[in-house]
Amino acid sequence: MTDAPRDNSATRARWQTCLRLARELLLIGPDNSDLKLEYLHTLIDTGRLGPTRHPRKKILIIGAGITGLVAGRLLKDAGHDVTILEANAGRVGGRIKTFRTTKHHQPFDDPAQYAEAGAMRLPDFHPLVLALVDKLGLGRRQFYNVDIDPTTGSGPDVPARPVTYTSFTGRTWTYGDESPDFREPEKRGNTWIRTNRVQVRRSDYAATPERINEGFHLTGDEVRAPAVQMVDDALESVRDYYSDIVAGQRVNKPFDQWVEGWARVIRDFDGYSMGGFLRDYAGLSDEAIEAVGTLENMSSRLHLSFFHSFLSHTDISPGVRYWEIPGGSWRLPDALHRGLRDEVRFGHRMIRLEYDDPSRDSVPEGTGAVGPGGWGVAVQTVAEDNPAGPTQLWTADLAIVTIPFSTLRFVEIVPSMSYKKRRAIIETHYDQATKVLLEFSHRWWEFTEDDWRNELASISPGLYEYYQQGGESGAAPAPALAQAGIAELLGAAVKDSGVTDEVRRFNSTMPLRGPAVRPATHCFGGGSATDNPNRFMYYPSHAVEGSTGGVVLASYSWSDDASRWDSMREAERYVYALRNLQALHGRRIEVFFTGRGTTKSWARDPYAFGEAATYTAHQMTSFHLDASRPEGPVHFAGEHTSLKHAWIEGALESAVRAAIAVHQAPPVTTPGPDQGGRS
Ligand code: FAD
Ligand code: ARG
Repeated sequence: MTDAPRDNSATRARWQTCLRLARELLLIGPDNSDLKLEYLHTLIDTGRLGPTRHPRKKILIIGAGITGLVAGRLLKDAGHDVTILEANAGRVGGRIKTFRTTKHHQPFDDPAQYAEAGAMRLPDFHPLVLALVDKLGLGRRQFYNVDIDPTTGSGPDVPARPVTYTSFTGRTWTYGDESPDFREPEKRGNTWIRTNRVQVRRSDYAATPERINEGFHLTGDEVRAPAVQMVDDALESVRDYYSDIVAGQRVNKPFDQWVEGWARVIRDFDGYSMGGFLRDYAGLSDEAIEAVGTLENMSSRLHLSFFHSFLSHTDISPGVRYWEIPGGSWRLPDALHRGLRDEVRFGHRMIRLEYDDPSRDSVPEGTGAVGPGGWGVAVQTVAEDNPAGPTQLWTADLAIVTIPFSTLRFVEIVPSMSYKKRRAIIETHYDQATKVLLEFSHRWWEFTEDDWRNELASISPGLYEYYQQGGESGAAPAPALAQAGIAELLGAAVKDSGVTDEVRRFNSTMPLRGPAVRPATHCFGGGSATDNPNRFMYYPSHAVEGSTGGVVLASYSWSDDASRWDSMREAERYVYALRNLQALHGRRIEVFFTGRGTTKSWARDPYAFGEAATYTAHQMTSFHLDASRPEGPVHFAGEHTSLKHAWIEGALESAVRAAIAVHQAPPVTTPGPDQGGRS
């Protein structure tokens, strides 16, 4: 595939597409400017769009996710008349959603507890989102993807480091003050890997991967390499396309070669799935691919495009520093919404989009609202609380559609859009993601074995020993415990435990797996990986102030791993998630389960229809450039129109891009002298 391509018009056109995609991926603007710097300047430095010859337009934004809110704020502040139509009747933020106590709802036993249903971590190299969080004064602290030693590092009172971005132009952009006392805590690796019935700590796996790797039947050199290194080594030859190793560090090639190098990567590899790449190009054995898939969260994604995993392998990796918003990610859209109270109109789902594109045929069977002398765009909505009720018509000069293509697929669009845009709307692959979160009254994952002894003894003398001796079923405690008034071990440590009858019933019928006791995890943040259905587990990076408990992300899964959970009822999900958590941490964790959990399947979310755009092989070259291209007065934004799929940063890039374009655009139609269309 890397042989020189045949020189015909199709390959020449494809090469031009690859070059344009490379520029889009690297955010290179006209005159080789850095678009990221332009977006940072607009959103952060000035918070303002520049001058325009077309002020005060009427603009409709569809969707009050992070994209719609950011575009809405910029356009409103520039003096435009903005309306944001949001299908959800009660919430902005879309795929940024925190389970938390509100006036109407308390998801966890402890009202102070909260947990993320969607976005939870912000990589250090995503400057737009980090600087926006800082500019809005939300505070920022580290999210530990790898567990840390809490006695090290500068602690919570030392301010976070400033946000920096080093451009390919040589310029370094910074936001915030230096924080010379900031120190990163040391990583520990106390969390677990459990696959093929073998369980080791992550730090042990990094040092001696053999035991886990043998479980995958690896042999030769492969058995001695941690999975992350196998992937890294496989990707090295791709990185050689656009960068060189200088004094042990990867350094980008000079500008033209760098851009061309990326274009060649796209040309040579966009047709691969990650599985195909690892097997056919990098020469990994089937067993190594199985190990990499399981441990590096790729097994459910091996069929997806090489590019998706290539980019996310750099995004989610042990070396990366992440941040989170104290109090929950919801605070970001909430802060933006504060300036848009009048503009966001809740509970209005777009079902029809009509627009006037003078370069195309006039609108067949239109409402009459758009067209010569009328408006550029007319959107028909249905009320979320009364879907059978009357529809409403909204008109404007221009629109920005930010809703996922997975949901736009169900909107009637008149006239139909260009061929390639239709392909993008119809075909863009959306992955699925499901989370199951369980609340515990105590943060048992932080315990040492001494803590376990003390905590269990404080529930009932003899309880620690009871588990040490193998404990019996969770439903029938030893007579000594019954004497102490403990009728049931599930939730035994929890006062007024909220275990529902349904959960109790599932819990008593589902077989217990694994021993009563496993070594104390003693971790702060970080995550475990397993081949059991939970797949990836994350422990909170920080305690919630004033609370002894915490919420564990007991299962975070994607793709096929996620769809298995989606077939289950909620109560069943909680008990299975608990069982699989017990398999790694011992049955004794049951005493701290408050009986409360939350779960979110993004594939079943009526506003998202999936987790995020994740291309399959060939999709990027087939239609990515068309995803963001405006159709007359209709502009497009949202994470799916960026090349940072499944990240807030991509959504923000798209929001600023679209806001600038709409701000500069003339209204598509102007009223004729005697047309009453625009009133
Ligand atoms: P959305 O947030 O989906 O906004 C679209 C809005 O449109 C929604 O409010 C929706 O209700 C509304 N809408 C839909 N249909 C209609 C209609 N017909 N009419 C009117 N309104 C409609 N990013 C990170 O940076 N870090 C992470 O750790 C992270 N983790 C993630 C984990 C999960 C499980 C998921 C699902 C996403 C995660 N992301 C993460 C990605 C991030 O959440 C998204 O990229 C980003 O929030 C997308 O924003 P958006 O505005 O493009 O789309
Ligand atoms: N931003 C997401 C996270 O931090 C990445 C999701 C990637 N999703 C996927 N299906 N590959 O978890």
